[in-house]
Amino acid sequence: MNYGFIGAGNMATAMIKGLIYAGIDSKNIYVSSPHSAAKLAANLHIQAADSETIAKKCDIVIIAFLPNQLRTLGNSLNLDGKIVISVLAQVTIADLDEVFPTAFNVRSLPNINSAIGKGSTALAFSKRLNEGQIEVVQNYWHLLGTTSVLDEQHFAIFSAIAGSGPAFVLKFIDALTQAGINNGLDGESAAAIAASTVAGTTETLQKSNSDAVTLMNNVASPGGSTRAGLDNFEQNDFDTIVNSAINATVNHKHT
Ligand SMILES: NC(=O)c1ccc[n+]([C@@H]2O[C@H](COP(=O)([O-])OP(=O)(O)OC[C@H]3O[C@@H](n4cnc5c(N)ncnc54)[C@H](OP(=O)(O)O)[C@@H]3O)[C@@H](O)[C@H]2O)c1
Repeated sequence: MNYGFIGAGNMATAMIKGLIYAGIDSKNIYVSSPHSAAKLAANLHIQAADSETIAKKCDIVIIAFLPNQLRTLGNSLNLDGKIVISVLAQVTIADLDEVFPTAFNVRSLPNINSAIGKGSTALAFSKRLNEGQIEVVQNYWHLLGTTSVLDEQHFAIFSAIAGSGPAFVLKFIDALTQAGINNGLDGESAAAIAASTVAGTTETLQKSNSDAVTLMNNVASPGGSTRAGLDNFEQNDFDTIVNSAINATVNHKHT
């Protein structure tokens, strides 16, 4: 299976690193872009190629240029019969089916964790794909993490939670770090303790058959110090703060 990327920026780089991390042979990965592709190919030992070569050699073509380039750039590409996976934000299946009328189009929304095989990706499929093609697409994304097949109307909330979410989790890790520093820890130790606590807790949750609230209450015995901290979160309306940040993200209008 050959994987071809058109666009060589941040998102393409994250996916390519994820494929290599998952053990895909770098000779099966192709990339095309006007400026960055050659350097990226040299750094990651993948193949730089023009888009015609990619269309010829690759089974899956991932488009990862900017959304406003869809029509100009898309109309110059011949992706007849290819599975085309778009990561272009806000570009719908209808847009893709219009620009690539003879391709099998997939809308996807990955996040930065794809680079280490821990991505979370939303997927929506054109009606043209058959079950076998959907499986090929799922197999691609499972190399990079987990997937959720969603109605396109839910891509905005997915984007806020999974796309922007890493920044929000990092904000929380930084707040834990600062609290550690305020209470006498050195910065490096505080940062390491906060990050490993969040990473370990996430893994504990994923490996349990439980939910976040049940596990949280298991950690916080009545009258104990953890419960005092959680009560303080409640008094300061932590859930409202998070909900409001997610709503601000969903409702943000790009200028
Ligand atoms: N960054 C994220 O976290 C993220 C998350 C989800 C979705 N996305 C989506 O992913 C897409 C790429 O985002 P990004 O952050 O990776 O942007 P980026 O770093 O600015 O990369 C854009 C890429 O498009 C390439 N490009 C421009 N003209 C081209 C052409 N004629 N042929 C082929 N490639 C061309 C550029 O090539 P040169 O570098 O050679 O000029 C560049 O590598 C966007 O549509 C965005 O909505 C991004």
